[in-house]
Amino acid sequence: MMKLMVQDLLKLVTFLALVRLTITSPGKVNFGYCEKIVKTWSNSAVNQEAKVDRHTLQDLLFFLHVPRTGGRAYFHCFLKKLYSSSQECPRSYDKLRFNPSKTKCRLLVTHDDYSMMSKLPKERTSLVTILRNPVDRVFSSYEFSVEVAARFLVHPNLTSATQMAKRLRSKAKGVSTLDIWPWKYLVPWMREDLFARRDARRQDGLSDVEGNDPYDMEEVVMPLHDYINDAIARDIIHNGATLQIAGLTNNSYYDGAHEVRHCIIEFKELGVHVLEVAKRRLDEMLYVGLTEDHRESATMFANVVGAQVISQLRSRSPVPETVAAKRTSEQSSTMYSESMDRHDQNGTLDEEVNGIHAPGNVEANKENMTVTKLIKAYESCIHPLRSIQSRRRISSLKHIAPANFTKEARLHVSEAVLQEIKSFNSLDLELYEYARKIFSNQHKRTAQKLLTTESFGDIVSSSYSISPWSLILVAAPIVLLVLFIFVVIKGKRISKIKI
Ligand SMILES: *[C@@H]1O[C@H](CO)[C@@H](O)[C@H](O)[C@H]1NC(C)=O
Ligand SMILES: *[C@@H]1O[C@H](CO)[C@@H](O)[C@H](O)[C@H]1NC(C)=O
Ligand SMILES: *[C@@H]1O[C@H](CO)[C@@H](O)[C@H](O)[C@H]1NC(C)=O
Ligand SMILES: *[C@@H]1O[C@H](CO)[C@@H](O)[C@H](O)[C@H]1NC(C)=O
Ligand SMILES: *[C@@H]1O[C@H](CO)[C@@H](O)[C@H](O)[C@H]1NC(C)=O
Repeated sequence: MMKLMVQDLLKLVTFLALVRLTITSPGKVNFGYCEKIVKTWSNSAVNQEAKVDRHTLQDLLFFLHVPRTGGRAYFHCFLKKLYSSSQECPRSYDKLRFNPSKTKCRLLVTHDDYSMMSKLPKERTSLVTILRNPVDRVFSSYEFSVEVAARFLVHPNLTSATQMAKRLRSKAKGVSTLDIWPWKYLVPWMREDLFARRDARRQDGLSDVEGNDPYDMEEVVMPLHDYINDAIARDIIHNGATLQIAGLTNNSYYDGAHEVRHCIIEFKELGVHVLEVAKRRLDEMLYVGLTEDHRESATMFANVVGAQVISQLRSRSPVPETVAAKRTSEQSSTMYSESMDRHDQNGTLDEEVNGIHAPGNVEANKENMTVTKLIKAYESCIHPLRSIQSRRRISSLKHIAPANFTKEARLHVSEAVLQEIKSFNSLDLELYEYARKIFSNQHKRTAQKLLTTESFGDIVSSSYSISPWSLILVAAPIVLLVLFIFVVIKGKRISKIKI
């Protein structure tokens, strides 16, 4: 009797809590409805998982490129060395005109989210991705939005800047940054904002801007604090990695994505269902890298992904290039990274465009590629790429001087702002921790594989290895053993002499 009453009371309390949530929640959505939507989505997402051996590279490699994680370096300096342009899926970063089922392409690199899988042969697709500390990713998104937008400040006014950008886009063969999600929203937004601030400065006759915090210099550029609190950032930036891997971005192919996303923004506690799906998908991936652990990530990429691509391409006779394939390959090889530069116009940057093109586009030597050569090629490709990027950044940020985003300046951003970023990105923070675990397991597995399943001779001759790192791993025990024997023998000799 008493027990029943307690139960009823509990039910009533729960009911009242739900009613309160329903009443106080702004907008049309209510908690019960959202909970149903999110759970239905997560159940169906889990049920749709393909059963494939995730450690084996399938026919199609899908690089799920989360923006600002350093994926571009992998594309230019690894994947371009392994796949020929005709093997790349056409228009990899361009959602509207891409239909992968039409081609026999082998490589897809894109900012599109996981929902792209609905267009791919799931059983024959391997996924790879790179994750980054979410706070750094938000900083980087902010800085890159400003950097690209600031290049337009060479123009006298916004009208002339946007007209010029339009003209160039229609002429360009490739895809411009302004066609690519998420930059197609972030850059125009920031561009408009930068021009408005410049116009206001001019109107006020303000010539010298004071201040030493580039993240909070409102006369020149939208402060970081305003950026992270804007509805656009909430839609596109925050928890961006989780949403992309879950297939729920603002750019999703799945029609219900927007409702699910709005529900987890509205009711944070529902985010856990999305997080669980994202974690399972990371588990299924062939490779997960970390932006911060760059060297280890790159070495592992070469050993896990690179080695398998090499042996796969070797074991298949080359696909004859049809005229159609050639045409699309021309398009795909002039995409994104180079065309990113197109809109900044003005001749001065063309040489940089070519500079980016050159290291990434060496087509030779694909048949004879080995993991050792791949790592060498990567290292000689990555340095010029980095210096081009940093030069571009410095020259672009000159337009918003004295604001200048440096590592030094980041250290002065207030704890309150950092906390805010963390709170907006709580799912990404958890996903990142999870990715770190996967990464360390991957690391162990690769090392173990190199040590146990193959003899030393096999490793040297097989396509599966040979980074300096793996050599050290293999060689260390042998060297130790030799040293040990040496010491023991020497010890014996000495003791013999003494006797
Ligand atoms: C913008 O700049 C262009 C080129 O200098 C000029 O022709 C045009 O009148 C300007 N537009 C506005 C609205 O100021
Ligand atoms: C995606 O987000 C941007 C910026 O908030 C918005 O302008 C756009 O309409 C959104 N797209 C969809 C399909 O919701
Ligand atoms: C390009 O740069 C040159 C000199 O650096 C300048 O004279 C010209 O006006 C610029 N053109 C545009 C469209 O900004
Ligand atoms: C690749 O290897 C083959 C046979 O081993 C050799 O004939 C060919 O010259 C090599 N190609 C390059 C570019 O090294
Ligand atoms: C911005 O900082 C970089 C160093 O991080 C420096 O090389 C560059 O000259 C600075 N730019 C301006 C406009 O001060």
